[in-house]
Amino acid sequence: MNMLEKAFEKSKLLESKKLKDTASEKEYKNDSPRTESPEYKKPGDIINFDWDYLHAHGFIRVDDSHSRIAEEYRNIKRPLVTNALGTRKRDIKNSNLILITSSVPGEGKTFTSINLALSIAAEMDKKVLLIDADVAKPSIAKVLGIKSKIGLIDFLETDTLQLSDIILQTEIPGLRIITAGKSHKFSTELLASDKMIALSKELSSRYSDRIVIFDTPPLLATTQAEVLASQMGQVILVVAAEKTPQSFVLESTKKLQNCSDIVLGVLNKAQRTLNAGYYGYGHY
Ligand SMILES: Nc1ncnc2c1ncn2[C@@H]1O[C@H](COP(=O)(O)OP(=O)(O)OP(=O)(O)O)[C@@H](O)[C@H]1O
Ligand SMILES: [Mg+2]
Repeated sequence: MNMLEKAFEKSKLLESKKLKDTASEKEYKNDSPRTESPEYKKPGDIINFDWDYLHAHGFIRVDDSHSRIAEEYRNIKRPLVTNALGTRKRDIKNSNLILITSSVPGEGKTFTSINLALSIAAEMDKKVLLIDADVAKPSIAKVLGIKSKIGLIDFLETDTLQLSDIILQTEIPGLRIITAGKSHKFSTELLASDKMIALSKELSSRYSDRIVIFDTPPLLATTQAEVLASQMGQVILVVAAEKTPQSFVLESTKKLQNCSDIVLGVLNKAQRTLNAGYYGYGHY
Protein backbone atom coordinates (compact mmCIF):
# COMPACT_ATOMS: atom_id res chain seq x y z
CA MET A 1 0.00 0.00 0.00
CA ASN A 2 1.47 3.33 -0.96
CA MET A 3 1.44 6.62 0.92
CA LEU A 4 -1.67 7.94 -0.81
CA GLU A 5 -3.60 4.77 -0.29
CA LYS A 6 -2.72 4.77 3.41
CA ALA A 7 -3.77 8.38 3.79
CA PHE A 8 -6.97 7.83 1.88
CA GLU A 9 -7.77 4.72 3.87
CA LYS A 10 -7.39 6.52 7.16
CA SER A 11 -9.61 9.31 5.97
CA LYS A 12 -12.17 6.85 4.60
CA LEU A 13 -11.65 8.09 1.08
CA LEU A 14 -10.05 5.02 -0.34
CA GLU A 15 -10.98 3.53 -3.62
CA SER A 16 -7.71 3.32 -5.40
CA LYS A 17 -6.59 2.27 -8.78
CA LYS A 18 -3.12 1.72 -10.12
CA LEU A 19 -1.80 3.80 -12.97
CA LYS A 20 1.36 4.10 -14.91
CA ASP A 21 3.56 6.71 -13.31
CA THR A 22 2.70 10.34 -13.86
CA ALA A 23 6.23 11.64 -13.93
CA SER A 24 7.95 13.22 -16.84
CA GLU A 25 11.70 13.22 -17.05
CA LYS A 26 11.71 16.89 -17.94
CA GLU A 27 11.38 19.42 -15.18
CA TYR A 28 11.25 22.96 -16.26
CA LYS A 29 13.45 25.33 -14.34
CA ASN A 30 11.62 28.36 -13.10
CA ASP A 31 14.39 30.53 -14.46
CA SER A 32 14.21 29.04 -17.94
CA PRO A 33 13.79 31.56 -20.77
CA ARG A 34 10.18 32.19 -21.62
CA THR A 35 8.87 33.61 -24.84
CA GLU A 36 6.12 35.95 -23.75
CA SER A 37 3.56 37.22 -26.17
CA PRO A 38 4.50 40.77 -27.07
CA GLU A 39 1.22 42.41 -26.31
CA TYR A 40 -1.38 42.28 -23.57
CA LYS A 41 -4.25 39.96 -24.33
CA LYS A 42 -7.86 40.93 -23.84
CA PRO A 43 -11.14 39.10 -24.42
CA GLY A 44 -11.60 38.56 -28.12
CA ASP A 45 -7.89 38.11 -28.78
CA ILE A 46 -6.72 34.59 -29.44
CA ILE A 47 -3.83 33.28 -27.37
CA ASN A 48 -1.37 31.15 -29.27
CA PHE A 49 0.83 28.79 -27.32
CA ASP A 50 4.53 28.17 -27.70
CA TRP A 51 4.18 24.43 -28.21
CA ASP A 52 7.91 23.78 -28.41
CA TYR A 53 8.42 25.40 -25.01
CA LEU A 54 5.48 23.54 -23.49
CA HIS A 55 6.54 20.22 -24.94
CA ALA A 56 10.12 20.71 -23.77
CA HIS A 57 8.84 21.21 -20.24
CA GLY A 58 6.70 18.14 -20.02
CA PHE A 59 3.33 19.49 -21.15
CA ILE A 60 0.93 17.75 -23.48
CA ARG A 61 0.89 18.62 -27.16
CA VAL A 62 -2.71 18.57 -28.27
CA ASP A 63 -1.65 17.30 -31.68
CA ASP A 64 0.17 14.32 -30.18
CA SER A 65 -2.25 12.05 -28.44
CA HIS A 66 0.21 9.17 -28.40
CA SER A 67 2.80 10.58 -25.98
CA ARG A 68 3.21 9.02 -22.55
CA ILE A 69 2.09 12.20 -20.77
CA ALA A 70 -1.04 12.40 -22.96
CA GLU A 71 -1.81 8.79 -22.12
CA GLU A 72 -1.32 9.41 -18.39
CA TYR A 73 -3.66 12.36 -18.39
CA ARG A 74 -6.24 10.42 -20.34
CA ASN A 75 -6.37 8.03 -17.40
CA ILE A 76 -6.55 10.82 -14.87
CA LYS A 77 -9.24 12.81 -16.64
CA ARG A 78 -11.60 9.96 -17.48
CA PRO A 79 -13.35 9.67 -14.09
CA LEU A 80 -13.33 13.46 -13.67
CA VAL A 81 -15.06 14.02 -16.99
CA THR A 82 -17.60 11.28 -16.30
CA ASN A 83 -18.40 12.86 -12.95
CA ALA A 84 -18.57 16.34 -14.45
CA LEU A 85 -20.55 15.77 -17.59
CA GLY A 86 -21.57 12.16 -17.77
CA THR A 87 -23.77 9.74 -15.94
CA ARG A 88 -22.81 10.86 -12.43
CA LYS A 89 -23.33 14.56 -13.07
CA ARG A 90 -26.67 14.68 -11.29
CA ASP A 91 -25.41 12.96 -8.13
CA ILE A 92 -22.60 15.42 -7.49
CA LYS A 93 -23.12 19.06 -6.58
CA ASN A 94 -21.06 21.43 -8.74
CA SER A 95 -19.63 18.39 -10.49
CA ASN A 96 -18.08 20.48 -13.28
CA LEU A 97 -15.90 22.47 -10.86
CA ILE A 98 -12.52 20.82 -10.26
CA LEU A 99 -10.03 22.20 -7.76
CA ILE A 100 -6.36 21.28 -7.94
CA THR A 101 -4.42 21.58 -4.72
CA SER A 102 -1.56 20.00 -2.78
CA SER A 103 -0.32 19.94 0.78
CA VAL A 104 2.69 22.19 0.31
CA PRO A 105 4.15 24.36 -2.49
CA GLY A 106 5.86 22.92 -5.53
CA GLU A 107 4.13 19.54 -5.74
CA GLY A 108 2.85 20.09 -9.27
CA LYS A 109 -0.52 21.87 -9.02
CA THR A 110 0.08 24.17 -11.97
CA PHE A 111 1.64 21.38 -14.04
CA THR A 112 -1.41 19.21 -13.35
CA SER A 113 -3.94 22.02 -13.94
CA ILE A 114 -2.51 22.95 -17.32
CA ASN A 115 -2.05 19.38 -18.51
CA LEU A 116 -5.52 18.39 -17.42
CA ALA A 117 -7.00 21.43 -19.17
CA LEU A 118 -5.05 20.67 -22.37
CA SER A 119 -5.99 17.02 -22.25
CA ILE A 120 -9.72 17.68 -21.85
CA ALA A 121 -9.82 20.57 -24.31
CA ALA A 122 -8.10 18.41 -26.93
CA GLU A 123 -11.31 16.41 -27.16
CA MET A 124 -13.33 18.09 -29.87
CA ASP A 125 -16.62 18.29 -28.02
CA LYS A 126 -15.32 19.42 -24.60
CA LYS A 127 -15.07 22.92 -23.20
CA VAL A 128 -12.65 23.83 -20.42
CA LEU A 129 -12.14 27.01 -18.43
CA LEU A 130 -8.78 27.11 -16.66
CA ILE A 131 -8.64 29.59 -13.78
CA ASP A 132 -5.51 30.68 -11.93
CA ALA A 133 -6.83 30.94 -8.38
CA ASP A 134 -3.38 30.71 -6.83
CA VAL A 135 -3.52 34.47 -6.63
CA ALA A 136 -0.67 34.91 -4.17
CA LYS A 137 1.68 32.99 -6.44
CA PRO A 138 0.16 32.95 -9.91
CA SER A 139 1.96 31.03 -12.61
CA ILE A 140 -0.45 29.88 -15.32
CA ALA A 141 0.06 33.09 -17.32
CA LYS A 142 3.82 32.78 -16.96
CA VAL A 143 3.99 29.15 -18.01
CA LEU A 144 1.62 29.67 -20.94
CA GLY A 145 3.27 32.93 -21.97
CA ILE A 146 0.17 35.09 -21.56
CA LYS A 147 0.29 38.79 -20.81
CA SER A 148 -3.05 40.09 -19.58
CA LYS A 149 -4.06 43.15 -17.68
CA ILE A 150 -7.04 41.83 -15.78
CA GLY A 151 -8.05 38.53 -14.25
CA LEU A 152 -9.74 36.88 -11.31
CA ILE A 153 -8.64 39.37 -8.63
CA ASP A 154 -9.81 42.37 -10.66
CA PHE A 155 -13.17 40.69 -11.14
CA LEU A 156 -13.50 39.90 -7.44
CA GLU A 157 -12.58 43.33 -6.18
CA THR A 158 -14.86 45.42 -8.40
CA ASP A 159 -18.49 45.39 -9.38
CA THR A 160 -17.89 46.80 -12.81
CA LEU A 161 -16.46 43.75 -14.55
CA GLN A 162 -18.47 40.98 -16.16
CA LEU A 163 -17.18 37.43 -16.29
CA SER A 164 -16.84 37.81 -20.06
CA ASP A 165 -14.41 40.70 -19.49
CA ILE A 166 -11.81 38.39 -17.96
CA ILE A 167 -12.18 35.21 -20.01
CA LEU A 168 -9.45 34.83 -22.61
CA GLN A 169 -9.78 32.72 -25.74
CA THR A 170 -7.04 30.43 -26.95
CA GLU A 171 -6.08 28.76 -30.20
CA ILE A 172 -7.70 25.60 -28.83
CA PRO A 173 -11.40 26.30 -29.44
CA GLY A 174 -12.47 24.43 -26.31
CA LEU A 175 -9.98 26.10 -23.95
CA ARG A 176 -10.49 29.45 -22.24
CA ILE A 177 -8.41 30.94 -19.47
CA ILE A 178 -8.83 33.36 -16.59
CA THR A 179 -5.50 34.61 -15.25
CA ALA A 180 -5.00 35.60 -11.61
CA GLY A 181 -4.98 39.29 -12.46
CA LYS A 182 -3.20 42.04 -10.63
CA SER A 183 -1.58 41.42 -7.30
CA HIS A 184 -3.60 42.73 -4.42
CA LYS A 185 -2.83 43.08 -0.76
CA PHE A 186 -5.91 41.11 0.21
CA SER A 187 -5.94 38.76 -2.75
CA THR A 188 -6.16 35.65 -0.65
CA GLU A 189 -9.08 37.08 1.33
CA LEU A 190 -10.86 37.83 -1.94
CA LEU A 191 -10.66 34.14 -2.76
CA ALA A 192 -12.75 33.36 0.29
CA SER A 193 -15.21 36.21 -0.35
CA ASP A 194 -18.94 36.01 -1.04
CA LYS A 195 -18.24 37.17 -4.57
CA MET A 196 -16.01 34.16 -5.13
CA ILE A 197 -18.75 31.90 -3.81
CA ALA A 198 -21.22 33.57 -6.17
CA LEU A 199 -18.77 33.13 -9.04
CA SER A 200 -18.43 29.41 -8.28
CA LYS A 201 -22.22 29.09 -8.28
CA GLU A 202 -22.47 30.91 -11.59
CA LEU A 203 -19.80 28.70 -13.11
CA SER A 204 -21.56 25.56 -12.00
CA SER A 205 -24.99 26.65 -13.23
CA ARG A 206 -24.50 28.92 -16.25
CA TYR A 207 -21.45 27.08 -17.47
CA SER A 208 -22.52 23.57 -16.54
CA ASP A 209 -21.52 22.22 -19.94
CA ARG A 210 -17.95 23.32 -19.30
CA ILE A 211 -15.29 21.83 -17.03
CA VAL A 212 -13.78 24.50 -14.83
CA ILE A 213 -10.30 23.82 -13.43
CA PHE A 214 -8.99 25.93 -10.55
CA ASP A 215 -5.25 26.04 -9.81
CA THR A 216 -5.16 26.96 -6.10
CA PRO A 217 -2.74 27.56 -3.21
CA PRO A 218 -1.45 24.65 -1.12
CA LEU A 219 -3.83 23.38 1.55
CA LEU A 220 -1.55 23.44 4.55
CA ALA A 221 -0.16 26.92 3.96
CA THR A 222 -3.38 28.95 3.95
CA THR A 223 -7.08 28.33 4.37
CA GLN A 224 -8.09 29.57 0.91
CA ALA A 225 -7.88 26.24 -0.89
CA GLU A 226 -9.96 24.63 1.83
CA VAL A 227 -12.63 27.33 1.57
CA LEU A 228 -12.63 27.05 -2.21
CA ALA A 229 -12.74 23.26 -2.05
CA SER A 230 -16.09 23.44 -0.31
CA GLN A 231 -17.50 25.09 -3.44
CA MET A 232 -16.16 22.43 -5.79
CA GLY A 233 -17.63 19.17 -6.95
CA GLN A 234 -14.27 17.46 -7.37
CA VAL A 235 -10.83 17.95 -5.88
CA ILE A 236 -7.45 16.68 -7.00
CA LEU A 237 -4.80 16.41 -4.31
CA VAL A 238 -1.40 16.43 -6.00
CA VAL A 239 1.26 14.65 -3.98
CA ALA A 240 4.95 14.84 -4.83
CA ALA A 241 6.12 11.24 -4.80
CA GLU A 242 9.01 10.40 -2.47
CA LYS A 243 8.95 13.91 -1.09
CA THR A 244 5.80 14.92 0.75
CA PRO A 245 5.67 13.41 4.25
CA GLN A 246 2.76 11.08 4.76
CA SER A 247 1.57 13.10 7.74
CA PHE A 248 1.04 16.07 5.42
CA VAL A 249 -1.00 14.01 3.00
CA LEU A 250 -3.04 12.69 5.88
CA GLU A 251 -3.72 16.18 7.16
CA SER A 252 -4.71 17.34 3.69
CA THR A 253 -7.11 14.49 3.09
CA LYS A 254 -8.73 15.21 6.46
CA LYS A 255 -9.29 18.81 5.43
CA LEU A 256 -10.74 17.76 2.11
CA GLN A 257 -13.01 15.16 3.60
CA ASN A 258 -15.20 17.91 4.96
CA CYS A 259 -15.15 19.82 1.71
CA SER A 260 -15.85 17.66 -1.26
CA ASP A 261 -17.41 14.32 -2.05
CA ILE A 262 -14.93 13.50 -4.75
CA VAL A 263 -11.22 13.55 -4.01
CA LEU A 264 -8.71 12.23 -6.47
CA GLY A 265 -5.10 11.82 -5.41
CA VAL A 266 -2.43 12.16 -8.05
CA LEU A 267 0.99 10.91 -7.11
CA ASN A 268 3.15 13.24 -9.12
CA LYS A 269 6.78 13.17 -10.18
CA ALA A 270 7.02 9.48 -9.45
CA GLN A 271 10.20 7.93 -10.81
CA ARG A 272 9.53 5.60 -13.70
CA THR A 273 11.86 2.95 -12.31
CA LEU A 274 9.89 2.72 -9.07
CA ASN A 275 6.75 1.80 -10.92
CA ALA A 276 4.99 3.90 -8.34
CA GLY A 277 2.46 5.92 -10.26
CA TYR A 278 -0.90 5.62 -8.62
CA TYR A 279 -3.90 7.56 -8.00
CA GLY A 280 -6.33 7.04 -5.23
CA TYR A 281 -9.88 7.81 -6.07
CA GLY A 282 -12.30 8.51 -3.33
CA HIS A 283 -16.01 8.96 -3.10
CA TYR A 284 -17.97 8.78 0.10
N1 LIG B 1 5.11 15.31 -13.42
C1 LIG B 1 6.04 16.24 -13.59
N2 LIG B 1 7.04 16.00 -14.41
C2 LIG B 1 7.99 16.91 -14.61
N3 LIG B 1 8.07 18.10 -14.03
C3 LIG B 1 7.10 18.38 -13.18
C4 LIG B 1 6.03 17.48 -12.92
N4 LIG B 1 5.22 18.06 -12.01
C5 LIG B 1 5.74 19.26 -11.74
N5 LIG B 1 6.86 19.44 -12.43
C6 LIG B 1 7.75 20.61 -12.34
O1 LIG B 1 7.98 20.88 -10.96
C7 LIG B 1 7.97 22.27 -10.72
C8 LIG B 1 6.85 22.63 -9.72
O2 LIG B 1 5.62 22.32 -10.34
P1 LIG B 1 4.40 23.32 -10.30
O3 LIG B 1 4.82 24.69 -10.61
O4 LIG B 1 3.32 22.72 -11.11
O5 LIG B 1 4.07 23.18 -8.75
P2 LIG B 1 2.99 23.97 -7.91
O6 LIG B 1 2.40 22.99 -6.96
O7 LIG B 1 2.07 24.67 -8.82
O8 LIG B 1 3.94 24.99 -7.15
P3 LIG B 1 3.50 26.33 -6.36
O9 LIG B 1 2.97 25.85 -5.04
O10 LIG B 1 4.78 27.06 -6.26
O11 LIG B 1 2.46 27.00 -7.19
C9 LIG B 1 7.79 22.92 -12.05
O12 LIG B 1 9.05 23.24 -12.53
C10 LIG B 1 7.10 21.83 -12.88
O13 LIG B 1 7.30 21.96 -14.25
MG1 LIG C 1 1.57 26.66 -8.99
